[in-house]
Amino acid sequence: MTNLDSIYKAENYVLSTYNRFPISLVKGEGSYVWDADGKEYVDFVSGIAVCALGHSNPSLVKAITEQAQQLWHISNLYYNEPQVLLAEKLISLTGLGKVFFCNSGAEANEAAIKLVRKYFYRHNEAGRNEIISFNKSFHGRTMGALAATGQAKYHEGFAPMVAGFAYADYNDLSSVEKLISDKLCAIIVEPIQGEGGINLAELGFIRGLRDICTREGIWLIFDEVQTGVGRTGKLWAYEHYGLKPDIITMAKALGGGFPIGAMVVADKVASGFAPGDHATTYGGNPLACAVASAVLDIVGETEFLDKVKARGDYLVQSLKDIGDSRIRDIRGQGLLIGVEFSEEVGDLIKLCVDKGLLLVGAGPNVVRFIPPLNVKEVEINKAIAIFKDALKAWQSN
Ligand SMILES: Cc1ncc(COP(=O)(O)O)c(C=O)c1O
Repeated sequence: MTNLDSIYKAENYVLSTYNRFPISLVKGEGSYVWDADGKEYVDFVSGIAVCALGHSNPSLVKAITEQAQQLWHISNLYYNEPQVLLAEKLISLTGLGKVFFCNSGAEANEAAIKLVRKYFYRHNEAGRNEIISFNKSFHGRTMGALAATGQAKYHEGFAPMVAGFAYADYNDLSSVEKLISDKLCAIIVEPIQGEGGINLAELGFIRGLRDICTREGIWLIFDEVQTGVGRTGKLWAYEHYGLKPDIITMAKALGGGFPIGAMVVADKVASGFAPGDHATTYGGNPLACAVASAVLDIVGETEFLDKVKARGDYLVQSLKDIGDSRIRDIRGQGLLIGVEFSEEVGDLIKLCVDKGLLLVGAGPNVVRFIPPLNVKEVEINKAIAIFKDALKAWQSN
């Protein structure tokens, strides 16, 4: 099929929930993808921070093939080896206590919302069911995760929202203090707000949230769906702050492109759930867990993470060297980089795609650079050359 064939069929048969670029991607290798008409693109979207090891990574192809030949799916009625091995790995890599597996970031956050509420219910404080999240946050599209998401545009038309959420301002502890009451059970925060514009949490803010949660006897949830699994140059973004959340939600890069999500929790909060409280048919299936284990074996290595940081620094420097006067700010950590412009970037991103570079926005004025974590310098150079070219064309508009 050509690009046009796919577009035609999508228009006719796929529910229209996405604004898509007019290309159908058919093949990927490393940091490159190709469309149905044979055009090559440097992929600095990576499936939105998912394909951490690039496309068709041989170690992941091996892991999935071997597991596919063994056992794909059973049910959580039974134990399965890849699941328990992955759980053991996640516990050893976080120092937390227990894992719940699911299939996506939104589901990991749903699990966290349910867990913190059920914890207090079980401990005879059912009235403690309110959660603080932050303006400009993004936690997913299911009803609970959506209610946690502090952006009105995502709520529009979906009323009534799930009750029990209040929104504070990011990096503003006093706005959090104002919302504290004896009904509070948790605070959920992204260490870097991804969809909200690549906004970094300050050290004092995160430490303050930790202190508030400890003081109030409530749970601190880190949504590491986008920042987790090496994206910021540490395996988990919380490591940048020298503290630990009580609950970490993760997905995206965990499966390197195969759908899997997880909620990893401290032992003390794990008692919130008992058998029957929460479940999912696919969560933690052998195929997904085998791939995720292979991802963590590679990304979890210190040398690999050091390279993420080095490549991130190189990318930031290369972006700074462009020196375009419309660039207001370049910010991020590791390979989660946002370039903020003084105007909306939709047309700039379209120009990049036309010229062979895939990029995605983060809010109206920010272009997000989220290449595979093992991107090479030469690929960064290529992306920057295309970006510069697109900036020139954008200028002449
Ligand atoms: C921080 C964060 N949380 C949750 C989600 C939702 O994840 P999913 O799309 O896998 O449901 C996203 C997706 O972009 C995200 O960036």
